[in-house]
Amino acid sequence: MSTRSLSTVDIDRKYVWHPFTQERTAPPPLPVARAKGASLFLEDGRELLDMACSWWVNVHGHSHPKIAEAIARQAATMEHVIFAGFTHEPAARLAEAIVNALPRPLSRVFYSDNGSTAVEVALKMAWQYWRNTGDNNRRLFLAFQGGYHGDTFGAMAVGRTSGYYDPFDELMCEVRHLPFAPTWMGDAECEAREALALAEIDALLAAHGHEAAAFLAEPLVQGASGMNMCRPEFLRTVVERMQARDIPVILDEVMTGFGRTGTMFAMEQAHVVPDLVCLSKGISGGFLPLAATVASTRIYEAFLGEDFHTAFAHGHSFTANPLGCAAGVASFALFQEEGTLERIGRITASNRAWLAEVAKLPGVTRPRALGSIAAVTLGRDESDYHAGIGTAVKAKCFERGLLIRPMGNVVYLMPPACVSPQELARAQEGLTEVLRETAELYAS
Ligand SMILES: Cc1ncc(COP(=O)(O)O)c(C=O)c1O
Repeated sequence: MSTRSLSTVDIDRKYVWHPFTQERTAPPPLPVARAKGASLFLEDGRELLDMACSWWVNVHGHSHPKIAEAIARQAATMEHVIFAGFTHEPAARLAEAIVNALPRPLSRVFYSDNGSTAVEVALKMAWQYWRNTGDNNRRLFLAFQGGYHGDTFGAMAVGRTSGYYDPFDELMCEVRHLPFAPTWMGDAECEAREALALAEIDALLAAHGHEAAAFLAEPLVQGASGMNMCRPEFLRTVVERMQARDIPVILDEVMTGFGRTGTMFAMEQAHVVPDLVCLSKGISGGFLPLAATVASTRIYEAFLGEDFHTAFAHGHSFTANPLGCAAGVASFALFQEEGTLERIGRITASNRAWLAEVAKLPGVTRPRALGSIAAVTLGRDESDYHAGIGTAVKAKCFERGLLIRPMGNVVYLMPPACVSPQELARAQEGLTEVLRETAELYAS
């Protein structure tokens, strides 16, 4: 049957299976016709301010003309080429920009195409690093409780406590989870919480440190488990504990990278240098699927040899896709041209002032802000992904022209750097009103 007379949604309902969606009960998806700056425009003409940066990928705003032009130019020149035995200028230039933006000894860029894969690659590199250097006893990964690192098998195993993966439990590799010490504005008990966490981490390291192949963490902000933030000092102490035991540190900057936390990379604020860093989402300005795992010289050199068996036998059809890399080069240039980090600094200041007010509402707890992220928890409980309140808040925000994507009882704003002060104020005021209207659902 021809579907010419059907709407986008009708055709979608017939043929598409959406991610992270209960297809039976979810409302029909919203058809988006175009996007510009901080706004999405639906097929029916309604405008939504995108306060989730399209699943945290967008950096400078939607459909930025400079990135769009770079992609168009590249598409007309060379759309793709096998990346084993060949290279191309966008991949080389983007790798150069990434390495120049990171501290030494991070020095080698391995491309892939999504955040989970950037993590999977890092785990495999760490694992093989030990095999290549002759230590077969390093069989364990360490990660923070609540961390989310993606949906491939290694990424699921390290992110197991995020609560998404119960059906796959038996298929996971061995991971020990360490306590995370969250904090928020006005939190007086943070240091005591950190001390408890560090004591537990020390005990675990004393028992199992010698078996650890690597430690993996989202630096400063655990995104998917509810925008849980920690102090840079806590991250630095944990990283130092790992490095003192020669445990390679992997920082998953898939969400935090490219300005999201106010610096190009979150690691800068903690003054730590990992052995491996995972990048994706904002790497292409949010335009195309692209990822990179950046390795230190020590890791890279452990894979050098005279035959293939120490090489990293991993790759993807779309590794270093030229369009994605060209978008990445253009996005890097915009950081300079548009003062992206300064823009994000102004968003942080505005969000902090807003949070100080909104946290006075009954039941609004744990106000926290870093870079372009501002979050609160609704109710006294910690992040609860299954709390229904988020759905109610989201629906009411939508009526006000705001796209937000709560995670259970955690509600956050994450605008792109291009958001104007007026747009940001509209989002903050709209969310404040919605929280007032829904207070009876969480403020008891
Ligand atoms: C910190 C972190 N790591 C990894 C991933 C997985 O990235 P992707 O969805 O591109 O596979 C995500 C996705 O949200 C993430 O937030």
